Amino acid sequence: SAYDAGEHESYMRKEMLEQPTTAQAVLRGRLDDRFGTAHLGGLDMDARDLRAVRRVKVLGCGSAYYVGQMGAGLIEELARIPADAEAASEFRYRDPVIEPDTLYVAVSQSGETIDTLLAVQEVRRKGGRCVGLVNVVGSAIARECDGGIYLHAGPEVAVASTKALTNMFLGFALLALQLGRVRDLSIADGRRLVAGLERLPAQIEEVLAGEDDLVEVARGLAEARSLFFIGRVRGFPVAREGAQKFKEISYCHAEAYQTSELKHGPLALIDPDVPTVAVVPHDELTERNVAALHEIAARQGPLVVVTHEEVDLGEVGARRIVVPRNEPELDPILLTIPLQLLAYHAAQHLGHDIDKPRNLAKSVTVE
Ligand code: G6P
Repeated sequence: SAYDAGEHESYMRKEMLEQPTTAQAVLRGRLDDRFGTAHLGGLDMDARDLRAVRRVKVLGCGSAYYVGQMGAGLIEELARIPADAEAASEFRYRDPVIEPDTLYVAVSQSGETIDTLLAVQEVRRKGGRCVGLVNVVGSAIARECDGGIYLHAGPEVAVASTKALTNMFLGFALLALQLGRVRDLSIADGRRLVAGLERLPAQIEEVLAGEDDLVEVARGLAEARSLFFIGRVRGFPVAREGAQKFKEISYCHAEAYQTSELKHGPLALIDPDVPTVAVVPHDELTERNVAALHEIAARQGPLVVVTHEEVDLGEVGARRIVVPRNEPELDPILLTIPLQLLAYHAAQHLGHDIDKPRNLAKSVTVE
């Protein structure tokens, strides 16, 4: 066929390794070094429309929802517009208030997920504006939206999304940049982020090149009956997506938690049989994150920490996975890549069908 796994043992593996190239595709022709902004013709919104946005609500399911949470964080950070993400599968059922000055953003690889499609229809029926971050050109969600950003990740076959997910994050970065630059985001910050985005594909390649070092760690995690993925603020959706991938293809119970909430409940479960994968970037929360790791270590909980070179973990005895730093706002996507590799190698160790996990479909097109 036109798109097959070729020499790769699975589509997921092929799609993970394609990311440095596919990441370039979503950025191509959309970055403006001079003005430190993005050009998104498909959005069909001029500067006035963009400035009129008072709130952003992101809607998606599964991995698209978790990346949507990363994207909402980016938008709030860069554009200073209140933004959040909600599971599209819940949205319509609570008779949501649709506001004319809210920008709704539907995220979907396939563009066919029924829950997301129905959420878009709910928004539009009630007079709201909904744009799409969609991979499949001409899909139902793309057609239903007022405009959007195509993700250009190419076909994705594995149920566990990798390259489409990365491009969703980059699509949000472009949108956040544009929304920011028509508001108070400085040209200097804009240029800083454009330069960061241009560096990203090579850094993704660098993380993927570290794959061999992760295999043993992944096998260790695969032996666990249950594990935690933790992170804070920018790192929390990374942890959620990491847990999702892990449980989808390894069938181990993996639960994501805000690192800050550990002491309010799940710490009771930490013992030598329950490993924690912690997302600890070098940022303003590092110290607090490391303090939480000490709480886990004190209860003999095994630790795997996805982090930056500069972070000093002290005496927690963790297995460190180091990723390169970009601009802090863009770091979440680089922190996500090793979690894809961990899930992949855990599932492979257990001998599972990686591309077609039991009970799951690539896109859920009936309610
Ligand atoms: C299904 C898949 C998930 C995927 C979700 C959203 O549930 O199993 O892996 O993230 O649908 O798919 P979409 O095509 O809308 O991004």
